[in-house]
Amino acid sequence: TLQRTFIMVKPDGVKRGLIGEIIKRFDQKGFTLLNAELMTVDRSKAEYHYMEHQNKPFFGELVDFITSAPVFAMVWEGENIIEVSRLMIGKTSPLEALPGTIRGDFAFTKEENVIHGSDSLLSAEREIENFFGLLKKRISKDDF
Ligand code: CMP
Repeated sequence: TLQRTFIMVKPDGVKRGLIGEIIKRFDQKGFTLLNAELMTVDRSKAEYHYMEHQNKPFFGELVDFITSAPVFAMVWEGENIIEVSRLMIGKTSPLEALPGTIRGDFAFTKEENVIHGSDSLLSAEREIENFFGLLKKRISKDDF
């Protein structure tokens, strides 16, 4: 089924010049880029984005990190993209992220792991709304 997901190049990925490489991988897979913006995330947006981790011991550092420098936020569309994009991204732990995945190829710590992708339909909707808004007009597949 056709889905939308929220993909974000985290501050470490932006600093390391990985935006183009990551766009290329999703483009080559056949997914459609619907919206993108280089932005600095404020604390309330970051805390809302990571609300499922609010009771974790690393929550404060996670929010510090994601607000520390610009991120590259994107909305992508494609068949089963939520599950497929997570396969492309790879596991959080650098010991588990396989070569060929984005994290397997580029990340070496679990705290700074280059990229975020939504893990469910519900979180994709919430994350897209948090970063791009509900009312703001978004490009649709019909525009291509
Ligand atoms: P992700 O799996 O996309 O979503 C949760 C994020 O929390 C994870 O990526 C890491 O970037 C971040 N994080 C920071 N510290 C830790 C930790 N100790 N264990 C797991 N995730 C962590």
